[in-house]
Amino acid sequence: MLEALNPQPQDKILQLIALYRDDPRPTKIDLGVGVYKDATGLTPVMRAVKAAEKKLWETETTKTYTGLAGEPAFNAAMVTMILGSGYADRAASVATPGGTGAIRQALELIKLASPGATVWLSNPTWPNHPSIIKYLGMKMAEYRYFDAATRGIDFNGLKTDLAQVAKGDVVLLHGCCHNPTGANLDAAQWAEVADILTAKGAIPFIDLAYQGFGDGLEEDAASTRLIAARFPEVLIAASCSKNFGIYRERTGVLIALTDPARRAVVQGNLAYLNRQNFSFPPDHGARLVTMILEDEALKADWKAELEDVRLNMLSLRTQLAEELRRATNSDRYDFVAHHRGMFSRIGITEAQVNQLREQHGIYMVGDSRINIAGLNAGTVPILAAAIAAVGG
Ligand code: LMR
Repeated sequence: MLEALNPQPQDKILQLIALYRDDPRPTKIDLGVGVYKDATGLTPVMRAVKAAEKKLWETETTKTYTGLAGEPAFNAAMVTMILGSGYADRAASVATPGGTGAIRQALELIKLASPGATVWLSNPTWPNHPSIIKYLGMKMAEYRYFDAATRGIDFNGLKTDLAQVAKGDVVLLHGCCHNPTGANLDAAQWAEVADILTAKGAIPFIDLAYQGFGDGLEEDAASTRLIAARFPEVLIAASCSKNFGIYRERTGVLIALTDPARRAVVQGNLAYLNRQNFSFPPDHGARLVTMILEDEALKADWKAELEDVRLNMLSLRTQLAEELRRATNSDRYDFVAHHRGMFSRIGITEAQVNQLREQHGIYMVGDSRINIAGLNAGTVPILAAAIAAVGG
């Protein structure tokens, strides 16, 4: 049987991890996978997570199963963190193995409810979006998003393409901190997108993997809240990997907003899909998140540390834009300071990306996405000089 298998294409982001690990050069710089690192290159366990883990170890009395949907307290805390109050009667929700698990379950739900629906993705988007959709045999289409010349939003292209969306199609939007580009819609553009999708009768599906990494915890939820308030049905896949720094705990949530009269049926379908795919979602990370969000002191400490993380990435952005100005004697990389989140697509060629890796030991995704958090004050000038050296 297994001889029938063909090799699968390697994930372009994850394959960089091994390439970087095997590079013996001590000066190598990893700007690949989206993991936050402090100035020493460490991905720290956040203080509040450590404190919650200690408390959990002391107080946990059982590891028996939770519900198929996860702990209701986790789901409720996540709904409030993302949407604010007032959604209890509209929000069906399940805990999932990370944000990827939430995306997968959302797509499964779409397939179950509306097998013919096309899922629209921004061009570009996180490569795993089209990969999972293809794997599930669903229909997909792309809408323009990124202007390669300005490294900003191609808003006219976006509007033209979204005008092609059919009634009942699903449109995937990055709630904040667009991955891979770092270019984000402003509030007025979000309102226009909402108008277009309303006119088309489309269903918004929001991927929110970086809440708190862009303009702030509340600010980064603003567009998701706008969409939630305006549409009768919305899917939201959220991750705790980044903002709680609990990547390997696999902690995420899928929220499906619906009519209160339909909530119980939607909730039952979400639980059913969890059962089919993995039964019970992982609990450890979800429990830590719940403890943090329900405890005022832990929550305040977590928010303060998250804000430090965000401000550190912002200052690296400012510094990188300045160094690139100096190194290239131009302002063509000023967009780096205006982008938000972990990533920027800097817009150099794949050949230049390869040169950076081979000649300078600098690792980034082939489309020239850099992880800002992979830098520190010492490596920013090195990166800027190397980009200039390869003709970027
Ligand atoms: C990324 O885009 O680097 C992260 O979301 C990690 C991943 O799973 O690809």
